Amino acid sequence: MAKIFVITYSTYGHINTLAESIVKGLEKGGVDVSRYQIAETLSEDVLEKMHAPPKTDIPIITTDDLLKADGFLFGFPTRFGSLPAQVKAFFDSTGGVWKDKALVGKPAGFFYSTGSQHGGQEATVFSTMPFLAHHGIVYVPLGYTSPHLLDNSELVGGSAWGAGTMANGDGSRQPTEKELAIAETQGEGFAKIAKKLAA
Ligand SMILES: Cc1cc2nc3c(=O)[nH]c(=O)nc-3n(C[C@H](O)[C@H](O)[C@H](O)COP(=O)(O)O)c2cc1C
Repeated sequence: MAKIFVITYSTYGHINTLAESIVKGLEKGGVDVSRYQIAETLSEDVLEKMHAPPKTDIPIITTDDLLKADGFLFGFPTRFGSLPAQVKAFFDSTGGVWKDKALVGKPAGFFYSTGSQHGGQEATVFSTMPFLAHHGIVYVPLGYTSPHLLDNSELVGGSAWGAGTMANGDGSRQPTEKELAIAETQGEGFAKIAKKLAA
């Protein structure tokens, strides 16, 4: 069975909620799923000032863990319209894996969260592309595979680049039913492609 790792970084939990639906979709798609989180780089002092809740006990990903997976779905919040420093720090620690060309041909996709509707959801995925290109990782977009992506009757996070949600500035908005359904669709679609690539 193809092994897919869902690797997240989350400060306030919105990404973890989306990840649950991503996992549901992956399992529906018939792959073996493991959850990991990316290590925090901020001090306890700063996290306290940000009113960040304690981290979950999801295992922290190491560069060697990446070798065990057939594909990756990464989820993280936007920081200044870009990927978080924690995620960049993790990618920056993968030089040894890059040297061995160990991730060439493995698929990856992304899901994300912003505070506001136009806070940089698509730009956040754009900002990850150099890491994929340099590793030779195959980017798997969501495409318009969910009808909810074309629904303008209410605020719906996500795009062809992946599932997404808007948390509001104070974190008060939670992923909606439609956003969770999009995340499940992304997981299921990604599983199909990852299985073909792993075969
Ligand atoms: C330092 C910092 C920068 C942020 N930059 C943006 C931004 O550029 N656009 C935006 O919409 N939200 C921004 N946010 C809000 C976060 O994206 C939001 O808190 C996050 O999506 C919630 O996800 P989480 O609950 O998984 O942490 C920023 C938050 C922080 C702490």
